[in-house]
Amino acid sequence: MRVINVCGTRPNFMKIAPLMAAYREFPAIEPLLVHTGQHYDANMSKLFFDELNIPRPDINLGVGSGSHAAQTAGIIKAFEPVVLEHKPDAVLVVGDVNSTLACTLVASKLHVRVAHVEAGLRSFDRTMPEEINRVLTDSIADLLFCTQQSDVTNLLREGVAKEKTFLVGNVMVDTLLRNRAKAEASQILEELALSPGEYAVLTLHRAGNVDDPARLAEILDALEVIQRDMPVIFPIHPRTRKNLATSGLVERTQDMPELRMIDPVGYLGFLKLMSSARLVLTDSGGIQTETTILRVPCLTLRETTEWPITIEAGSNRLAGTRAERILAAYREVITDRGPVPQVPPLWDGHSAERVARVLAERL
Ligand code: UD1
Ligand code: UDP
Repeated sequence: MRVINVCGTRPNFMKIAPLMAAYREFPAIEPLLVHTGQHYDANMSKLFFDELNIPRPDINLGVGSGSHAAQTAGIIKAFEPVVLEHKPDAVLVVGDVNSTLACTLVASKLHVRVAHVEAGLRSFDRTMPEEINRVLTDSIADLLFCTQQSDVTNLLREGVAKEKTFLVGNVMVDTLLRNRAKAEASQILEELALSPGEYAVLTLHRAGNVDDPARLAEILDALEVIQRDMPVIFPIHPRTRKNLATSGLVERTQDMPELRMIDPVGYLGFLKLMSSARLVLTDSGGIQTETTILRVPCLTLRETTEWPITIEAGSNRLAGTRAERILAAYREVITDRGPVPQVPPLWDGHSAERVARVLAERL
């Protein structure tokens, strides 16, 4: 039983890693790994294969960057001959990126079953490209693996048959738990001269936040205040670096000595950075879930989240994108961390095994 596994962007690698490991316990499954090449810088791609011991991709489509249409079409065109040549029994996709949707479309039209890991996540904001990718992928996938009960509810509401849904937990948490001890040994705090509990970590890359200079400037207004209290470590996504430069906003950051912009860091170093931080500010999806497990307060710089369980768990707050509101949430969180966050059901480090077992039984 041949399963083509698709990855393309940074968060996909943390999701694919435990799946590739879990297949070893299921010899009936012959996995192939395809990298679409959507992310390609060494610190957005290769680094994670090395740190997480992900096997080298069997095939790299080398598609790279482009507009949504060009990138999605490029992946579709490059992936079709791979499916025709290797004749898989299933194609497994993860997450909500353009690679996810493009490969789902190809497989589905060639009558190859599609398994989607992280199905049913919804922000209910269709201006997010990820939401379009999620809704379309889930509407044609055959096996829908969900992380939280609300994902299943969302799918049923959209008319998906219950038999296609499987609540398995969060594969990203498998990766976190497996690498936590290794991350502890990282020297990143020493390298950046940081003391545990005395700094904040920031990531920003959501198109809605960083492609619009007015929105980005508003977030910078809040950061200007926060960096006066404590260093804000900002491993900067290539999209954001580009936009800060083209909008001229990079000049404003030069007046913020404790907003420390660094290149994107590896997974182990980033895990260490997050776990020792006073708080994390982010618009990332994955980081909202990781901070829940790490029990580090997270301020999500967005109006919506596809991870309501992290809000219920008590680790995450929606802080929006207006400076006033971000600062109000920041002040709240540094005076009162709130109750110890609850670990969501099935976020126990065994989610990838559950996926592999379903694949072995169903295909
Ligand atoms: C993509 C996903 C987003 C995900 C994010 C994870 C889509 C629609 N978006 O956003 O959901 O949260 O990845 O990080 O699929 N670039 C580089 N080097 C790289 C990769 C990108 O310089 O290795 C630059 C290029 O200028 C590129 C831009 O970043 O145009 C955006 O890359 P792209 O893959 O289109 O989207 P992301 O913003 O990375
Ligand atoms: N991450 C990392 N280095 C960084 C920033 C993030 O290793 O400099 C990890 C983070 O721990 C998480 C994943 O990258 O596992 C999240 O990716 P990203 O925020 O790019 O995407 P999203 O989750 O929003 O789709």
